[in-house]
Amino acid sequence: CGIVGYIGHRDAYPILIKGLKRLEYRGYDSAGIALFDGSDIQLSKTKGKVSDLEERANAEISKNGSLGIGHTRWATHGVPNDINSHPHYSSSGDLVIIHNGIIENYDSIKKELINRGYTFKSDTDTEVLVNLIEDVKKNEGVKLGKAVQIALNQVIGAYAIAVFDKSKPDEIVVARLGSPLAIGIGEDEFFIASDATPFIEYTNKTIYLEDEEMAIVRIGKKVKIRKIHDDSLVDPYIQELQLNLEQIEKGGYDHFMLKEIYEQPDAIVDTYRGRLLVDEGIIRMAGVDDNIEKFLNANRIIIVACGTSWHAGLVAEYIFEEFARIPVEVEYASEFRYRNPVINEKDVVIAISQSGETADTLAAIKLAKENGAFVFGVCNVVGSSIARETDAGAYTHAGPEIGVASTKAFTTQITVLSLIALTLAKAKGKLSKSDYHLYLNELELIPKKVLKALTANEHIIKISETYKDASNFLYLGRGFNFPVALEGALKLKEISYIHAEGYPAAEMKHGPIALIDEQMPVVVIATKKGHYEKVVSNIQEIKSRHGKIIAVVTEGDIMVSELADHVIEVPETVEAFTPLLTTIPLQLLSYHIAVMRNCNVDQPRNLAKSVTVE
Ligand code: G6P
Repeated sequence: CGIVGYIGHRDAYPILIKGLKRLEYRGYDSAGIALFDGSDIQLSKTKGKVSDLEERANAEISKNGSLGIGHTRWATHGVPNDINSHPHYSSSGDLVIIHNGIIENYDSIKKELINRGYTFKSDTDTEVLVNLIEDVKKNEGVKLGKAVQIALNQVIGAYAIAVFDKSKPDEIVVARLGSPLAIGIGEDEFFIASDATPFIEYTNKTIYLEDEEMAIVRIGKKVKIRKIHDDSLVDPYIQELQLNLEQIEKGGYDHFMLKEIYEQPDAIVDTYRGRLLVDEGIIRMAGVDDNIEKFLNANRIIIVACGTSWHAGLVAEYIFEEFARIPVEVEYASEFRYRNPVINEKDVVIAISQSGETADTLAAIKLAKENGAFVFGVCNVVGSSIARETDAGAYTHAGPEIGVASTKAFTTQITVLSLIALTLAKAKGKLSKSDYHLYLNELELIPKKVLKALTANEHIIKISETYKDASNFLYLGRGFNFPVALEGALKLKEISYIHAEGYPAAEMKHGPIALIDEQMPVVVIATKKGHYEKVVSNIQEIKSRHGKIIAVVTEGDIMVSELADHVIEVPETVEAFTPLLTTIPLQLLSYHIAVMRNCNVDQPRNLAKSVTVE
């Protein structure tokens, strides 16, 4: 979910609506807004998107006021309908709250409150929390800030909340545990949001609340931050952000996803800039260099991640083992954290996360740290929870990724992980000098080759036309490109709702081959290096069962071109870096198919970009 708030001298409504649109990547099942109009609360909420909310707000509220909060929801408790949408009132109607996260013990608190005469309109855990705050406030005769603090000490779960009281409309109380919350500081005005994008055009001065902190944001006062549990005061750390507006707007593209696909050549350069020093023949990465002993003494590396980041981890497994000869295991963060894994101080954990906020990945990191492992983060969002929770790390510097389907995050993660693998390979003496230099050179050339791969776009549009109505797709790859097959299938599923499976090409004969008939498009990654002949045999097997073959091949390929129904060329590179190129046409294929099927590419149904619940 995404939350926003404003208190100051401007009209809050347009700021909140624009802010919610920027945060819609975090969830878009329903949206709502509450404003203080000078005497009362004006509240409007609805199932659907922020644009639906605007329509409803136009019809039902005055939209006046310079204090307000807003929410865009990814449903956890209660179906996405108007009533379960946020904001939620307390029973008296004095308090109003927005919440991102889950209150796990809401049921027992709710029963107690019902016994005390409280009534509930929604099925949400959030309405329970606001009533608990009201109950504390009344019974203990304390102010809103104190009441929030006492209430939060009674709940178990995760939250970023913002709440205000109409009888004291000069402050918003916010708190965080597990879900992100940023406070933007302007001249006599404050902004609140799940990330800084809603307020970046007004101020770049930002405070990121830490876990277990709450703040009272009051007109004419400095932001006051306290620890929720022990009540100690915290000195606010105000950061000046680098983000600019252009980065978070579509810039002429139809969708953020397409813009982000096309940003990849630049994003990869941004990722290796200052790190990959080809002329000097070195890689410089402070996070790795400062901790090189930890890596070199490690028995193994465990990579934890979710979704597309997990796929980048799988590619990294091949790259680390190939270059540095360090054993690597790649784990779904959600499985790792609940499996009682065998892990100790001889393990190095690498956590990969675009957002740096994924709840399962964050929990896996905490578990690894408790067991003594050194934890290294690969994140895109600067200052995110995972970036802060890890012992050291390297940012991907891909710039904001807004399309829910991850693209440039994936290729830049692979770039960072390649840099790390090469650094370790050198330190361990596992690569000859000439190979090491060859890889440095090749990596530097990748952005230009990605640019070249992007020129297949028109051709891919035609292929997409042919297969847009398919109901299943199979994606096959071997070696370094097996994870690319998984990622290609994930992209198609996510945004076009076509069922797709990724498989190691050789495993096809142990099951998926049964699915192949003339209706079945099979995307095969068949680049020259790496098991080429074996993949060609797999293609033969598909062909003899009349499957339709879309092959991603190396420029100038002849053999596969004769067998496949369609080929898409990518430039040649060393095998280890082929995923950085082969993934590009698969992103474009899923994008165009989704557009042709009239799907909402940037906000696919049921998904959210940043999953801050487990
Ligand atoms: C969500 C997103 C995916 C992403 C995954 C992990 O499911 O929709 O695109 O890969 O979370 O996110 P992270 O921010 O940790 O990389």
